[in-house]
Amino acid sequence: MASSETILLFVLLQILGLTQLCVVSAYWLMAPNNILTTQRLDPIVTPGEVSTHVHSVLGGSGFGLNVNTSILQESECTSIPIQEDKSNYWFPQLYFQKNDGSFASVSGNAVIYYLFSDSANVTTPFPNNVSMFITSGDTTLRTLNASSFAQQAVTFLCLQFSGTSNRYNELPVGVSCPAGIRSQINFPSCWDGKNIDSEDHKSHVAFLSTGPDNGTCDDPRYPVTLPRIFMEVYWISQDFEDQRDQALTPSQPFVFANGDPTGYGYHADFVNGWEDGVLQKAISGCNCNPYGDPSCCVDAGIFAFNQTRQCFISNTVDEPVLGNLSTLPGANPVQAPCFESYIATSTPVILAPVYTYVASASIQLPSGTLATSATVTLATQTAVGTCIWKGAGSRSRNVSTCLQIAAALVHLFWYFV
Ligand SMILES: *[C@@H]1O[C@H](CO)[C@@H](O)[C@H](O)[C@H]1NC(C)=O
Ligand SMILES: *[C@@H]1O[C@H](CO)[C@@H](O)[C@H](O)[C@H]1NC(C)=O
Ligand SMILES: *[C@@H]1O[C@H](CO)[C@@H](O)[C@H](O)[C@H]1NC(C)=O
Ligand SMILES: *[C@@H]1O[C@H](CO)[C@@H](O)[C@H](O)[C@H]1NC(C)=O
Ligand SMILES: *[C@@H]1O[C@H](CO)[C@@H](O)[C@H](O)[C@H]1NC(C)=O
Ligand SMILES: *[C@@H]1O[C@H](CO)[C@@H](O)[C@H](O)[C@H]1NC(C)=O
Ligand SMILES: *[C@@H]1O[C@H](CO)[C@@H](O)[C@H](O)[C@H]1NC(C)=O
Ligand SMILES: *[C@@H]1O[C@H](CO)[C@@H](O)[C@H](O)[C@H]1NC(C)=O
Repeated sequence: MASSETILLFVLLQILGLTQLCVVSAYWLMAPNNILTTQRLDPIVTPGEVSTHVHSVLGGSGFGLNVNTSILQESECTSIPIQEDKSNYWFPQLYFQKNDGSFASVSGNAVIYYLFSDSANVTTPFPNNVSMFITSGDTTLRTLNASSFAQQAVTFLCLQFSGTSNRYNELPVGVSCPAGIRSQINFPSCWDGKNIDSEDHKSHVAFLSTGPDNGTCDDPRYPVTLPRIFMEVYWISQDFEDQRDQALTPSQPFVFANGDPTGYGYHADFVNGWEDGVLQKAISGCNCNPYGDPSCCVDAGIFAFNQTRQCFISNTVDEPVLGNLSTLPGANPVQAPCFESYIATSTPVILAPVYTYVASASIQLPSGTLATSATVTLATQTAVGTCIWKGAGSRSRNVSTCLQIAAALVHLFWYFV
């Protein structure tokens, strides 16, 4: 059975008469039990190396310098409550920049949605005899192209406890978000049916026909409908609201680990690690609750749900990435509205082995011992214009009522558990 916390969340949603989260497809949602690890790794973009920036990672403990589907399926544990989902999901860490130029990490937690067709045999699970990698977003972007589906796939919500939570294409500028900032990303869900990865980690998949969250896979080059993953990260940015006047840029004091204060360079990555056969059963049988509550799928024997079993791994890259830091890890410059090349000035060592721990609360893991000195990838983007962030104005759009209510309630959920 699902735990009392999940039941509380879904009862709250139902009391408010929230229907279907404004989506037409079947779906379930799941809130990871904890962040698996936060470190400078990106095994899709820079396998075997220290990544240019820090990611927070969810899912299977098989995560490391290299991942693939079979490695993840062998994970000792997963930070996802659905125990059969040992996939990894990762996104850049968020920081607050103080007026002396130093940084403090912002805490966050996530909600992951799996959306799929209500009609039988339309949505196909990720193949798991091969390793499926999917990336959404582009770390180098610092401007908005509003007609690009890839950029429409990234949005931010400025959360209010009551009233309107506005949606933005960028980190909200000049407004305070008393209930936090939610970064949101849709993954492309139409597959070419042939390639499990591509050079840019994106060209083997495409967004739906009419936008990142609407339409079908009707492009003949991308005919296979995969489950659509939508990931929200609830950043507890309100922890810094009373320090806003001590920020380097008070109008928008936050910056992602890749040196992006705009949000246009937000991105996320997925590597499939579902146990064989489970996702097929879930797609066929897990459309049993209109609010995305997966407990009915648990009752139907489709998968197991455990909201207290946390899962951690020790760090491979030996450097501080959370708390107060004098620079962003990797010494990434804060770059907006453009990118300039830089040389990472810190080259941390690689530790081995990786320790895994299953617990109901965070614990201090032993660290590995020096395995090798690190290879660090030099980011080589070309500077265009001046790279000084002036906190340009941002546009907001109204969010439909159902999404606002959902935002407020999922947020309350974090406070109560
Ligand atoms: C879906 O596929 C299964 C197995 O191939 C088949 O038995 C079933 O009839 C199909 N359902 C529909 C609605 O096409
Ligand atoms: C994986 O399985 C699919 C469907 O069963 C099959 O079409 C494909 O050839 C297999 N791929 C590999 C690399 O074995
Ligand atoms: C995953 O990597 C391991 C170790 O490199 C390899 O043995 C295995 O065949 C790979 N599996 C897939 C599905 O690529
Ligand atoms: C903006 O995105 C659209 C759709 O992807 C593309 O056709 C267009 O070339 C892009 N514009 C610029 C300036 O990159
Ligand atoms: C999907 O797009 C169609 C056509 O643009 C629009 O009429 C419909 O309202 C959209 N549905 C949702 C759920 O956004
Ligand atoms: C959930 O995991 C915890 C920690 O591993 C374990 O003690 C508990 O029995 C599990 N609960 C269920 C329902 O499996
Ligand atoms: C970070 O520094 C602030 C003072 O600027 C202090 O209050 C806070 O406890 C520090 N946080 C950590 C995690 O060390
Ligand atoms: C947003 O909602 C407010 C209040 O409901 C309304 O006054 C305003 O015109 C709306 N703005 C847009 C762009 O729809």
